[in-house]
Amino acid sequence: MLDFGSQYSQLIARRVREQGVYCELVPGTTPWPALEARRPRALILSGGPSSVYDPGAPLCDPAALRSGVPVLGICYGMQLLAQQLGGRVQRGSRQEYGPATLEVDDPEALFRDLPGELPVWMSHGDTVLEAPEGFRPLAHSANSAVAAMGDGLGRYGIQFHPEVIHTPQGSAILRNFLYGVAQLHGDWRPAAVIEEAVAAIRRQVGSGHVLCALSGGVDSAVCATLVHRAIPGQLTCLFVDNGLLRRDEGRRVEEVMHRHLGIPLRRADAEDAFLHALEGVVDPEEKRRKVGATFIAVFEAEARRLTGVDFLAQGTLYPDVIESTSHDTVGAQRIKTHHNVGGLPVDLRFELVEPLRYLFKDEVRAIGTALGLPEDMVHRQPFPGPGLSVRILGEVTRERLQTLRAADWIVVDEIKAAGLYRALWQSFAILTPLQSVGVMGDNRTYGNVVAIRAVVSDDGMTADWARLPYEVLARMASRIVNEVPGVNRVVYDVSSKPPSTIEWE
Ligand code: XMP
Repeated sequence: MLDFGSQYSQLIARRVREQGVYCELVPGTTPWPALEARRPRALILSGGPSSVYDPGAPLCDPAALRSGVPVLGICYGMQLLAQQLGGRVQRGSRQEYGPATLEVDDPEALFRDLPGELPVWMSHGDTVLEAPEGFRPLAHSANSAVAAMGDGLGRYGIQFHPEVIHTPQGSAILRNFLYGVAQLHGDWRPAAVIEEAVAAIRRQVGSGHVLCALSGGVDSAVCATLVHRAIPGQLTCLFVDNGLLRRDEGRRVEEVMHRHLGIPLRRADAEDAFLHALEGVVDPEEKRRKVGATFIAVFEAEARRLTGVDFLAQGTLYPDVIESTSHDTVGAQRIKTHHNVGGLPVDLRFELVEPLRYLFKDEVRAIGTALGLPEDMVHRQPFPGPGLSVRILGEVTRERLQTLRAADWIVVDEIKAAGLYRALWQSFAILTPLQSVGVMGDNRTYGNVVAIRAVVSDDGMTADWARLPYEVLARMASRIVNEVPGVNRVVYDVSSKPPSTIEWE
């Protein structure tokens, strides 16, 4: 996929992979010889924030468009196709944003086996006025005379976004392009990655020794398991217990890695160092910095004790790779600021091993399952690097950690009991800095307020608060007030992201 900076580029890649077709993003302006060297079977031109009329608008190498490789241009990608092949694009006087009805004029190729009218999602300023020579309009909408076009020889453009859920038949349209037009077979499966990854790790590492830092999350666990499978006996895992984990979490990591998978594990108990660093700190960003710096210090001290280690294995995922190389991606306007505390120092003397570099989270989960990792590890909800420190508003102390852990345990316990855990992106408790008045028995209390946060999301970049059943909320609230000393009030967070964020800090 040639990426022209759309917020949806990653999503398009995921939708393509869901069809069993491997897909990678490269900067939209990549010259054809560099593209050709990778032997693409199809090209997708993404959308993007530019107009083809902007000075310096990113263009596609014309040789790519004439290469005979099937092309699907989406939104800006379609406008590029039109403009670069001699059609006419009209600069938008007003934006078309939101749902629209697509009237299909040619039910072949892209629209095969689909109804003549389709709900689609539009988000564009410019429109294609005239398809280039050799192309025919295939569909229109109220605001776009040419909402889809094709030349019958493998080159297609669509103005709407097939990748978002608001285009219900979007996946079918992509499939028609991938299977029908580009003649791909959909035989790529995440689990097939295991063999390839294992071979690549063996090639890279040879007889060297690898260190892998475990966080307790699925990415580092899958990464370690892959390395272990490739080169058993050449891996040491390091688990830094920062004292900011949830109840039972450290023990669980040890149990899974050590007992279940037989992977040697060193544990650094660094709770004191982290809590000391966090003393008196209330500012959220300062907390992140302190946790990050302490992690690096502890990690370096541990790593120095190991001799003969040449490689560091990291569970970096494809979204992080795309994110961190996005400055190569012409035109990208990034909304998310990346805040990955717990990242490792780059100037350590190790060479990096990153077997998950080209994978999305759901694919990593599929691989984890195929590798025999326990279900509760594979489907664990994401947990921030700075841990509970960003879920305690105000100063982080041992006592407040204990309060939050007890409340959080109840939230997750009830969510799991209600069978909702996997349907939620995250569900957790927050310890607010508020004190409120309550009554218990005949006595007045003055205690802490705990908030509950539960959200649904695809990728954490946007999220909506979960409409949890009242009974589940009631049980959580009643148990927290009764079982957690010092808490006398529970509130539920009904904010979406944006404008709020998922974490409170
Ligand atoms: P926000 O709060 O920004 O979070 O809506 C989006 C997702 O990122 C996680 N998160 C973090 N992860 N280090 C991390 O590794 C951090 O500093 C951090 N802050 C937020 C959050 O849990 C959610 O899944």
